[in-house]
Amino acid sequence: MASETAQDVIERTKAFVQSELKGAEGGHDWFHIERVYQNALLIARSENVDTVIVALGALLHDIADSKFHEGDETIGPKKARQFLNKTMLSEEKITHVIKIIENISFKGGHTQQQFNSPELDVVQDADRLDALGAIGIARAFNYGGFKNRVLYDPSIPPKLDMTPSEYKASTAPTINHFYEKLLLLKDRMNTKTGHRIASKRHVFMEQYLAQFFAEWKGLT
Ligand code: ADP
Ligand code: NI
Repeated sequence: MASETAQDVIERTKAFVQSELKGAEGGHDWFHIERVYQNALLIARSENVDTVIVALGALLHDIADSKFHEGDETIGPKKARQFLNKTMLSEEKITHVIKIIENISFKGGHTQQQFNSPELDVVQDADRLDALGAIGIARAFNYGGFKNRVLYDPSIPPKLDMTPSEYKASTAPTINHFYEKLLLLKDRMNTKTGHRIASKRHVFMEQYLAQFFAEWKGLT
């Protein structure tokens, strides 16, 4: 495979991810990856980054999400490395993509990220954008349904100070997730483009929540 180009690797990665994610939960399926990939390339246009690393980080970031593997955070990076080792990419680039996969997650928002790079910033923003707006709302309720969570329970308030393990183990109503994560993302965006798009989606979610609570009380 001496003549393999970076573009060939990206195409091969798409096919690999598509087949690995067959049957995935609707919010973490190939279409989520495709949206994150497209958003990442869009954000990357205004940033000084290696777009091959951005593309591969976006495509591989949820290859084996720990939420769907009994909390095991090592399977995704391992699978990605096994795949990338068989490509023409340099060890340095492979390590960078793996670090993106290992460090992209929110985990409740109270842990210090172990690695930083402009490429991680871009992929993280692209993943966060997909947690916001109309699609973010759809994904949250789909995940809640997948986990058999209630929509809302006024007697269970959101918890804003969860440790990563509490965040992972939470069985709270889906509406709480808006306060525990989704509405916090706008102010944590890394890039200008990401922040601009997140702000619009944030306003839409606030309007949605206002309508939700009004209907809950039968006011509208
Ligand atoms: P992170 O690890 O960065 O928090 P996740 O993969 O857990 O990212 O979250 C991705 C998406 O999965 C969320 O944006 C949301 O749509 C859905 N999700 C995760 N946890 C919950 C939850 N407790 N309730 C509702 N949706 C959730
Ligand atoms: Ni994701």
